[in-house]
Amino acid sequence: MHFIKTATGCIAATDATPTEITPTWFRDSFWREQQLITGTSKGRYTTWFVRYTQQHWVLRHYWRGGLMEKFSKDAYLFTGFHQTRAVAELVLLEQLYQQGLPVPKPIAANIERFGWWYRADILIERIAGASDLVAILAHTTLTETQWQALGAQIAEFHCRGVYHADLNAKNILLSGDKFYLIDFDRGCFKKVASQWQRANLQRLLRSFNKERGKQPALAFKEQCWQWLLKGYHQINPRT
Ligand SMILES: Nc1ncnc2c1ncn2[C@@H]1O[C@H](COP(=O)(O)OP(=O)(O)O)[C@@H](O)[C@H]1O
Ligand SMILES: [Mg+2]
Repeated sequence: MHFIKTATGCIAATDATPTEITPTWFRDSFWREQQLITGTSKGRYTTWFVRYTQQHWVLRHYWRGGLMEKFSKDAYLFTGFHQTRAVAELVLLEQLYQQGLPVPKPIAANIERFGWWYRADILIERIAGASDLVAILAHTTLTETQWQALGAQIAEFHCRGVYHADLNAKNILLSGDKFYLIDFDRGCFKKVASQWQRANLQRLLRSFNKERGKQPALAFKEQCWQWLLKGYHQINPRT
């Protein structure tokens, strides 16, 4: 990773970053004006899907949650480029991607400073043909083998010490028969230990149950979770 200085901050670039990149690439208006927006995902905020030449990317702005949101919707205290949310996520994604773990390839992060504060955005590769688990389970079921494969995939992340701060059903994508984890904001490497791994799994279980509360037809039942755990324990029997 290397930094490109800009008028108000910097762009953190990877091997996949086009050399012509500028801070305007991190604004949805830049892509809209060229009719290169290919889709959106609307949660609390919008994630943009854009096309750059033959590549498909995802553009996300970092929004605050919780109490600080009242103070500013997207300003974070600047304590160094490597400490920013976007650069930390870019670096983590790059490490995971290089280790061959199923995560989107990171493209670039943008940091704009103003006084003690910064705003940030990230560009990552879009996983081709992927949908998140909530979208999938709304209209189809996963087989026992698929639930086990998902459990095994999560266990592989855990065995390598990868902590995902927000492991939920919307942050798991399925493309073909491969599961991907996305949204590594505030993720990190941790010492391998069963406590945070269990907490991570419990969070995921709560997420499935919460989504089924909202959508009773969601194809998630207790049996699915048992299948997932079976696959998980085959890779990580100690947790
Ligand atoms: N790299 C990606 N490839 C394909 N789809 C993605 C990718 N990143 C995000 N998405 C889709 O957009 C949704 C929201 O993206 P996410 O990064 O999780 O942002 P947030 O959780 O802040 O809304 C995901 O649930 C997924 O459906
Ligand atoms: Mg998400």
